[in-house]
Amino acid sequence: MTKTNDVRLRETWDKLSHDPFHQAGFFPSERYLSDWIGSQKNKRVLEIGCGQGRIIVPLARQNNQVIGIDISNEMLSICQTRLKQEGLNVPLVRADTRHLPFRDGVFELVYSLGVVEHFEETAQAINEHARVSKVEGTVIVSVPHRRSFYHLFKIFSQFLHLFRFGFEQSFTKRELRQMTQAAQIRITNLIAQEIVPESTVTPLRHLAAYGVLLLDKLLLPVGLGGMTIIVRGKVMSHN
Ligand SMILES: C[S@@+](CC[C@H](N)C(=O)[O-])C[C@H]1O[C@@H](n2cnc3c(N)ncnc32)[C@H](O)[C@@H]1O
Repeated sequence: MTKTNDVRLRETWDKLSHDPFHQAGFFPSERYLSDWIGSQKNKRVLEIGCGQGRIIVPLARQNNQVIGIDISNEMLSICQTRLKQEGLNVPLVRADTRHLPFRDGVFELVYSLGVVEHFEETAQAINEHARVSKVEGTVIVSVPHRRSFYHLFKIFSQFLHLFRFGFEQSFTKRELRQMTQAAQIRITNLIAQEIVPESTVTPLRHLAAYGVLLLDKLLLPVGLGGMTIIVRGKVMSHN
């Protein structure tokens, strides 16, 4: 990615940090996080692309060894304010997940939700997740699902120049599996998941997006849809 693209990436997320749609709490991945990782007490955890702190804030209530990184200063500043309001002390670092400023094998859990699809070097970023994890540490990554209504909706809104989340790729389960395995991660779970609107703030202009997300949710029981796919695995060795 060129320098201009990097600056654009940062600017996009600085701007989105104030977007009410993005702030709406409708991503349920935290359910998988708590089901899959259980208690993270006394474990070193890294959240990549922590955004406004949706996951890291509740996690920090039960674990004092959490670190968050994000490419956007604005996102980190909102996250920091939320942490401070709760008296939580979490180191937040402005960094790019494609080049993490940590040595190899530091963390017991490294996760990112909705982050690595926003640039072309997705495989490199997943490698970085694995590199900074301990061997036998857990890595969790979630990306948009290509076999979804959301993906069709995205193509349509990109065509109309209405898509507001900058550069964003979608992946099939197969592609996510391949990238994860190439990073020397042994996969334990890989599923499609719904992203349900939970927020009561539903501006009219977002209704179409909510409708699409709902369709993807309704089709999940018959093996279709699911706006995102999420993978969990254990690092076998460092590349
Ligand atoms: C869709 S938001 C998800 C935020 C958070 N993970 C959540 O689930 O609420 C994507 C986040 O990834 C961050 N991001 C995008 N590209 C990044 C990169 N190369 N390195 C680190 N963070 C990045 C953005 O600034 C933004 O906070």
